[in-house]
Formats: sequence, structure tokens, C-alpha cells
Amino acid sequence: MGNTYKAVEVFEPGALRVVERPIAAPGPGQVRIRVEACGICHTDAAAVTGIYPGLNRPRVPGHEVVGRIDALGDEVSKWAIGQRVGVGFFGGEDGVCEPCRRGDIVNCQNPVIPGVTVDGGYAEAMIAEARGIASIPDELTSAEAAPLLCAGITTYNALRNAGLRGGDLVAVQGIGGLGHLGIQFARHMGLHTVAIGRGREKEKLAKDLGAHVYIDTAADDATAVLQRMGGARAILATAPSGGAMGPLVSGLAARGKLIVVGVPQDPMQLSAFPLVFGGRSIYGSLAGTAIDTEDALAFSVLQNVRPMIETVPLEQAADAYARMMQGKARFRMVLVTGDRADERTPAN
Ligand SMILES: NC(=O)c1ccc[n+]([C@@H]2O[C@H](COP(=O)([O-])OP(=O)(O)OC[C@H]3O[C@@H](n4cnc5c(N)ncnc54)[C@H](OP(=O)(O)O)[C@@H]3O)[C@@H](O)[C@H]2O)c1
Ligand SMILES: [Zn+2]
Ligand SMILES: [Zn+2]
Repeated sequence: MGNTYKAVEVFEPGALRVVERPIAAPGPGQVRIRVEACGICHTDAAAVTGIYPGLNRPRVPGHEVVGRIDALGDEVSKWAIGQRVGVGFFGGEDGVCEPCRRGDIVNCQNPVIPGVTVDGGYAEAMIAEARGIASIPDELTSAEAAPLLCAGITTYNALRNAGLRGGDLVAVQGIGGLGHLGIQFARHMGLHTVAIGRGREKEKLAKDLGAHVYIDTAADDATAVLQRMGGARAILATAPSGGAMGPLVSGLAARGKLIVVGVPQDPMQLSAFPLVFGGRSIYGSLAGTAIDTEDALAFSVLQNVRPMIETVPLEQAADAYARMMQGKARFRMVLVTGDRADERTPAN
């Protein structure tokens, strides 16, 4: 890598280019990561298209980053050079806003977001806040760990914090990067798992991932199928479609929850009736903290949850991003640098 490193930056809305940048030293409380793998999350579209409020260009996207620490800033304890770590969407809290002062740091009002407020992981190197990084277990390769840093933690936390009990009927809507992990987590958490997709193409994949039942919304009314099964205790809505999310409330059992993790551009429309008559609710859930991520990684090792990935060299980021946006990824595109992303054990 020398004194420069390769990065892929957004230089104008919708356009990615490969550039060579001077290597920078981490500041106090920061580490520099030599990136081995970075997943391409649908949320990267907010950086690439420039719709994220206050986004500055050029900006390097990417918040599913795994690599090895190669430099430590001042005041960094706990972490060591050579250690394999990851950083996701939640890259660090400010520690002073009201949610932070109440201990709810994931809802920090001024967070560090890799790929949005600071440069992210579509690069050979990245600077991260030490308080925002997670340790990567040796059992996972860097490429397979990367999607767990956002798609994984998001679905894992949403499910584990939903007050569900073993055997509860739970549906995962949208079978993409998030959804294909959500199905596996739900199944391995002991939940009666329904996958909701559009078209027959993903039925076998969804069942292979652990879904007990697949609903094809092109052929069936998902709410009617769920109601015939007794109603879902929770529906994890991952599809970036507001139009498809709102009606799902009617598929919930009394007191059931629609957990919104997808962030569609179009508004959701809701009928008040199923909310009021049956005490159903709807709320959002955002990624998770670094320590939550370590839980998600440990659970994935324990239960053999793995993302299905397609790896591509960093230089082909623009093509890989386009493939994700076209819904062609099965199920996560992961950018890799060099040849180390398939290694499990930490290098020294
Ligand atoms: N809450 C959080 O912290 C968080 C974290 C990460 C991502 N996100 C958001 O979550 C969403 C999903 O991200 P992702 O990375 O999983 O995206 P993705 O890999 O592109 O997958 C999205 C999936 O949704 C499916 N879909 C779209 N419209 C649908 C519909 N009407 N009915 C059923 N399925 C539909 C697509 O399937 P087709 O093949 O049928 O098109 C696609 O497989 C994005 O909005 C992203 O910004 C939120
Ligand atoms: Zn993401
Ligand atoms: Zn804060």
C-alpha cells in the first residue's frame, strides 16, 4: 500500500470512481484499518445518489467493513495492531446528546456514520473511531463477516429486541441482503419463520435459508396467508418499498409488531383499524452498536449463520453497486482487496 491507498469515491451524484489517496494517520481515539472486505448495503445508495442530508463529496461509501488494524491513534486502549475488526453503520456516538446521555447511543443525534459523515470502506484503508469497532471472530472470513456488520446486526437486533418467544410466528419481508440474514436469524432463534418475497424465484433459496413457509406476493395476499396461520407476532420489513410495507400491519396477530428496518423513498400508508382494534404497533429499528455487533457475530458462529455473498475486487465497485441496485445480488455483493478476505485467522 505504501504512502497511498486505493479508494472508490462518489464524486458526483450517482458516479463512483477509483482514486489513489495519500495515507493518513489516525487521530486521537481512532484506528486505521487495512480493509480486506466491505459489503455493499442498499443504504449506500443514500451516499451514492447524494440524498443523505448534509453529505459532502467526494465521499467513500461503505459501512460493512472488515480488516486489520495497522495504526493506532493516541488514547486508544484495548485494540492492538494486527487485530481483525469491523465497523458498521454506527461508527461512534458523540456522547453528549440527550439519547447518548440516557445510554441510548445507537440513537445518537450526531453519530459518526462511515460512508456518510466520514469516508467508509470502499477502500484499501479506512480511519475508524475505536469506540465504534467490533472484534471479528476467527471462525469467519473477512468477506463473510462483512455483511454481518450492517445487514446482520440490523436484522439480529431487531428480532432479538422484539420480545418474541420460541415458536412465535414471524415473517421477514424482502429477501435481499438484510432479509436473507433475517430469515436465518429468525429460524435459529427458534421462531416459526415465514419469508415474504415477490415471485417464485426466491422460494427455494428462502427455504434453504431456513424459512418454514414462503409467501409469493405476486400470487398470494401475504396478510391473508399470515392470518390463516394465526397472525404474525412480528413482521420484519426489509424491502425498500413503503407501498408494500403499510398493508402488512393487517397480517399481524393482536399485539403484533411491524418492525421497519427498510428505508423506502416512498411513504408508507397505514390503516388505523388494525392498529387500534388489536393493539398492533409499528416502529423502526436502526442497526446496532459495536458490542451488539459482537453479539450478532458470536450468534452467527454459534448457529452457523452465514451470508450468501458474491465477492468482487474493489476496483469493480461501480459494477457491483449497480448489480445490488438492480436486485441481482445473491444476496450481498462484497468488495475485497488483495487476497486475504478468505482467511479466517488473524495475521500478525
Ligand atoms: N434499519 C437499518 O439500520 C438498516 C440497515 C441496513 C439497510 N437498511 C435499509 O434496508 C433496506 C434493504 O436493504 P438491503 O441491503 O437488504 O437491500 P437489497 O439487498 O437491495 O434487498 C432488498 C430486497 O427487497 C426486495 N423487495 C423490494 N421491493 C419489494 C416488495 N415490494 N416486496 C417484496 N420484496 C421487495 C428486493 O427483492 P426483488 O428481487 O424482488 O427486487 C430485494 O431483494 C434498504 O432500504 C436499506 O436502506 C436499513
Ligand atoms: Zn447498511
Ligand atoms: Zn449522541
